[in-house]
Amino acid sequence: MDTETAVAKHYTHGSLEQALFQALRSAGKDPEHLTADELSGVDEFHLGWRPATAALAKDLGLRPGERLLDIGSGLGGPARFFASACGCRVEGIDLTDEFVAVAVSLTRRCGLADKAAFRQGSALDLPYAAGSFDVATLIHVGMNIGDKARLFAEAKRVLTPGGRFGVYDVMRAKQGPLPFPLPWSQVPETSFVETPETYRRLLTEAGFTIEGTVDRSAFVLELARAQQAKAAAEGPPALSLQVLMGATRKERMANVFTALEGGLIAPTQILARA
Ligand SMILES: C[S@@+](CC[C@H](N)C(=O)[O-])C[C@H]1O[C@@H](n2cnc3c(N)ncnc32)[C@H](O)[C@@H]1O
Repeated sequence: MDTETAVAKHYTHGSLEQALFQALRSAGKDPEHLTADELSGVDEFHLGWRPATAALAKDLGLRPGERLLDIGSGLGGPARFFASACGCRVEGIDLTDEFVAVAVSLTRRCGLADKAAFRQGSALDLPYAAGSFDVATLIHVGMNIGDKARLFAEAKRVLTPGGRFGVYDVMRAKQGPLPFPLPWSQVPETSFVETPETYRRLLTEAGFTIEGTVDRSAFVLELARAQQAKAAAEGPPALSLQVLMGATRKERMANVFTALEGGLIAPTQILARA
């Protein structure tokens, strides 16, 4: 099986929309009338969740009307935030059919269909003309992509000259075996975690100018500890990534936090200019 097929299979739940609606109803929400904020517990599939997306948006200086491409858009949480909170016109592209279908449905239910659209496709072969976007984002996607030179060349191609690229991926902080399963892969064969130095080198080779790197480890750990304390006091939240990750969620989340606390990996943001 090729990498992209294996990755899409890894993320496919099978009845995700049903499971999400059930979780939303148990949390007292009406799936027919949603807001982007109400969904933030389940549709931000990365470390640091909505606060990390908001931090990326702030650092990118997103402005109303800008055309933004979210590469590997998942369920569309970040895309809906960029559209609703920042006023961007957003396109999302993702490999996993089911995620795209759920992203479209949730976006319509949030009344944002005219501001954020989604389609299935590969980050390595973006179906957009050169210079189509002012901004591109890549949030916790690069860990599934071995050919980062091609990924960054594609991002550069679809951006206008001077366009901004915001990368927020789990990156390698120290050598050593990673504990699998992890949220982005059950096995080492579909995991491609690289150092910030490798990202910066490949981005530069693709024609980007690096504007800054931020290690979000402390930010993520602080949020996770606050969330744990809240769950201990009030019980587990009705809306969490549990819905997406199913049976192996506990092990995958425990492994990612063990690797993070042990300094093997670091959720890292890199901003670059085309
Ligand atoms: C961990 S999720 C992150 C989703 C979203 N960016 C977020 O932060 O909520 C990784 C996503 O990357 C997508 N993905 C992985 N490899 C891809 C590729 N080659 N092209 C497009 N999407 C890809 C997966 O389908 C999945 O939706």
